Amino acid sequence: MTDMFSASAASSPSGPVECLGLTFPSEAARREYFLKLLADKLKDPAFRQQEGFPQGTDEAILAMSDPPYYTACPNPWLADFVKHYGKPYDPAVKYSREPLAIDVSVVAAAPLYKAHSYHTKVPHLAIVPSILHYTEPGDIVLDGFAGSGMTGVAAQWCGCAPAAYRHELETAWKKEGRPAPKWGARRVILNDLSPAATFIAANYTLPFDVEAFAKAGKQLLEELEQEIGWMYETLHTDGKTKGRIEYTVWSEVFTCPECAGEVNFLEEALDEESQRVKESFPCPHCGATLTKSRLERLYSTKLDPITGKAIQVPKRVPTLISYVIGKTRYEKKPTADDLAVLQRIESLPLPSQMPTIEIPPMHMTHERARMDYAGVTHIHHFYLPRAAQAMGRLWEKAKAHPDPRIRSFLLFMVEQAVWGLSVLNRYGPTHFSQVNRMLTGVYYVASQHAECSPWYNLGGKLDRLVKAFRNAKVSPGGTAITTGTAARLPLPDDCIDYIFTDPPFGENIYYADLNFLVESWHGVTTDAQPEAIIDRFKHKALPEYQHLMQRCFAEYHRVLKPGRWMTVVFSNSKAAVWNAIQVALQQAGFVVAEVTALDKQQGSYRQVTSTTAVKQDLVISAYKPNGGLEERFSRTGATVESAWDFVQTHLRQLAVTKVKNGALEFIVERDPRRIFDRMVAWFVRHNAPVPLSSQEFQEGLRQRFAERDGMIFLPEQAAEYDKKRAQVEHAPQIELFVCDERSAIDWLTDFLKRRPSTYQEIHPEFTTQIGAGWKKHEAKPELAALLEDNFLKYDGTGEVPSQIHSYLSSNYKELRGLAKNDSRLIAKAKDRWYVPDPNKAQDLEKKREKALLKEFETYLAHPGRRLKEFRLEALRAGFKAAWGKKDYASIIKVAQKIPDEALQEDERLLLWYDQALTRVEDGQ
Ligand SMILES: C[S@@+](CC[C@H](N)C(=O)[O-])C[C@H]1O[C@@H](n2cnc3c(N)ncnc32)[C@H](O)[C@@H]1O
Repeated sequence: MTDMFSASAASSPSGPVECLGLTFPSEAARREYFLKLLADKLKDPAFRQQEGFPQGTDEAILAMSDPPYYTACPNPWLADFVKHYGKPYDPAVKYSREPLAIDVSVVAAAPLYKAHSYHTKVPHLAIVPSILHYTEPGDIVLDGFAGSGMTGVAAQWCGCAPAAYRHELETAWKKEGRPAPKWGARRVILNDLSPAATFIAANYTLPFDVEAFAKAGKQLLEELEQEIGWMYETLHTDGKTKGRIEYTVWSEVFTCPECAGEVNFLEEALDEESQRVKESFPCPHCGATLTKSRLERLYSTKLDPITGKAIQVPKRVPTLISYVIGKTRYEKKPTADDLAVLQRIESLPLPSQMPTIEIPPMHMTHERARMDYAGVTHIHHFYLPRAAQAMGRLWEKAKAHPDPRIRSFLLFMVEQAVWGLSVLNRYGPTHFSQVNRMLTGVYYVASQHAECSPWYNLGGKLDRLVKAFRNAKVSPGGTAITTGTAARLPLPDDCIDYIFTDPPFGENIYYADLNFLVESWHGVTTDAQPEAIIDRFKHKALPEYQHLMQRCFAEYHRVLKPGRWMTVVFSNSKAAVWNAIQVALQQAGFVVAEVTALDKQQGSYRQVTSTTAVKQDLVISAYKPNGGLEERFSRTGATVESAWDFVQTHLRQLAVTKVKNGALEFIVERDPRRIFDRMVAWFVRHNAPVPLSSQEFQEGLRQRFAERDGMIFLPEQAAEYDKKRAQVEHAPQIELFVCDERSAIDWLTDFLKRRPSTYQEIHPEFTTQIGAGWKKHEAKPELAALLEDNFLKYDGTGEVPSQIHSYLSSNYKELRGLAKNDSRLIAKAKDRWYVPDPNKAQDLEKKREKALLKEFETYLAHPGRRLKEFRLEALRAGFKAAWGKKDYASIIKVAQKIPDEALQEDERLLLWYDQALTRVEDGQ
């Protein structure tokens, strides 16, 4: 008997198989049983009406699917999968982990990673340590934006990693003082909106017979050779030997602006010697100096036999043929014979599998790149006649394989030629290989196209696939794949043990648009409506993106077990997108416990404190607070005690120490100000007023918890920290990035704590801080005013305050051991600014808050439509006060007076504003 987790559940095993508690005589019987059920389900209009349901006929959806493991639509068996293979949430089970930083750029060259490309893949080896850290064997991992399914590959890898890999990882963990991982496969649920993506993911993670595939792939390419090999034959320049064409270069033809003569771009502009395009070149007819920008594309009119309409196609001519005889490669200009073959092919009917649908209006084909200018309005226009024959037959042959699992994997191979055989494949004269040379992330038709033969494109691929999967031993399953929106997962509450996810970030990549080409071949396309991207063409701007993401995160929050973790990979350099994600996460109920970036040069991780300019990939570790906290909150409501309850729970989730290059690192999330922000977000998300002012919070924090080197700990954590601290020489230092008034105050606090100073001493240091990174619309404060409003100055009367006293006596030998009223000490202490003790700080804070609110009133009363410069601190204080009074209208009114980017780039403001909007929309 075999189940999903056993290696013998391959594509056509002879023995009985167990699946979701049922036993079948064979895999074929299992498949037949569930396909029948899926076919019935597809007939149910309510099932099909779900948000995110792909577009396609029942037949096409069934053809892609392998139920219950994979469906090219929302998977009706996910709940069963969890019920059978998961462990129900039990609050009594102890679970505790610290957040973990990972390197998302790790070993991208691994053969398995390269087995199928996808836009922005996260290498599975980057995910493996995370899964090992947060889960135990048999736990269920979820990725709702799974793309090509690397999270699934990683979950399987935990069970089949080679000994050398295990040893390497265990040694590294030991060095970091971490316990050894528990090896063993984890079960995984993969979801994506795009059927093209889930099809890749399914083939990556469902078991198949590699040897049977190797045979079938070879046979497919050989049969194709027998059928259409003649299309790729050419006569060698010796006039007798037959050569095999690897690729033919087609060049667009332009007209000369001077004489209107035809100019073959490649022939005229390519420098034979350097193989580069010349900046300028003479017209072959009139000798005028030409550049690419001076040329006009020539179009020819063709009748499209499919649509029956005339279409305008850029005029292209075959200019160069690259072919081989044996192992030797040759190049030649096409001869009359070659042209005759091409003409013969042009008269053939299109293969039946070639999709002929019209491309609907979308950003990538109608705005970013005008595909109609390239003569492409329907899918079949992407292919020149010979490539259409090759691609159509490849698809046909793969689809005709009798074994459904092998068939699916053949399509997995063949679909990788969909772009490479199309006119999107650019010719790169300086490149050795012309395989898959399309521009990634866009549809772009270049002036020179390398039309590759199917064997040139796929021959090497077949061998590589066989090698990659043979070594990876991907057969043990345990994966369920579903197609739909992450905002609506067919899963019960509290059933997932860990989430790893890499969602779309803003407008980096238009997945639905880009997947449309491959999906047309499958006949099942993405429902782009719920796609979480910024896409002006579909009227999705940043706020829409944020809300789409928020809905997906809320769904993640629903299905994740309380107290469990989620890792989110973030790769976008815009602060506004970053803030949208932060707000979406917190609104959905997650609490962020760490944000890290990898310092590639040093090979170490850095905690991220500011994201005004994010240059590299970030990794966010967030958790769903445990059930106890939520329950207590709903019982007691927004009381002061509930704030401390939150802090208590939050501190437990944070790392206690972080060691970098032998030194202790400052843990940003333990900074009292950061803890305050997290607490505020928690209350806002629960639609509750924040029960403490910032100073009350800071004071209470120090009374209730232990402070070490500017960080807050639970008592038992403090003991652990002290032990580590005793082993290192220096205390960790906070790194502050000054970009607005708030961070300027934080910087001053830090500076004056270490070194109470006079205005003259502070000034030059402060000036270097408020430089390039300063936020655009934020008024620059005067140092004098900042000091006056937030700190105290010793004017030389009375005793020297202890803050200054301890600084002077430990830094100046001659002042050591002097009484606080000693005149020498007083003289040195006079005019120094220092950080007030908590009582005095509260008085100052009250005064400052009053002033900030007054300023906010002026914003509210401002007659113009736009405020040009303002203080973010005044906005924050005003929003917070208005929130407390449920005065949502004032928040919205002022928010609309400030530029979008200022709002979008401030996580705190965005949080209040977004909630205020929701409240107003809900009529509260
Ligand atoms: C960054 S990619 C994930 C790539 C993946 N990490 C990999 O290694 O292949 C983001 C994915 O989110 C998908 N997506 C966009 N909106 C979605 C939604 N609402 N629900 C589920 N998936 C969505 C896109 O189709 C895309 O495949």
